[in-house]
Amino acid sequence: MLGIKKSDLRENEPIKASVAGRDFVLVLHNGRVNALDGLCTHEQGPLFEGSVDGDGLVCPWHSGVFDIETGKANENTPWVTDTAHYDVGEDQSGELFIEL
Ligand code: FES
Repeated sequence: MLGIKKSDLRENEPIKASVAGRDFVLVLHNGRVNALDGLCTHEQGPLFEGSVDGDGLVCPWHSGVFDIETGKANENTPWVTDTAHYDVGEDQSGELFIEL
């Protein structure tokens, strides 16, 4: 459990979530909660401090872009490679969990 509810999230405002010593970024996008690895595939920039541009999550360090809904690296920022995308579930109390 993440200790976070969907209602804690704001559309297109990434936040950090930690599970089992790993950091993830959660992004509510088009009404759906997405989870991606928290550290960028380039030089481990903190994606949970990134921003959203269209359907992309932008790394705060060197502006690498990842598709929020798939984790795919944007072809216009070839210095980043694809990252993992995870489905996010909700338990009966509304708390979110990442399906690892
Ligand atoms: S660390 Fe993310 S683009 Fe460089």
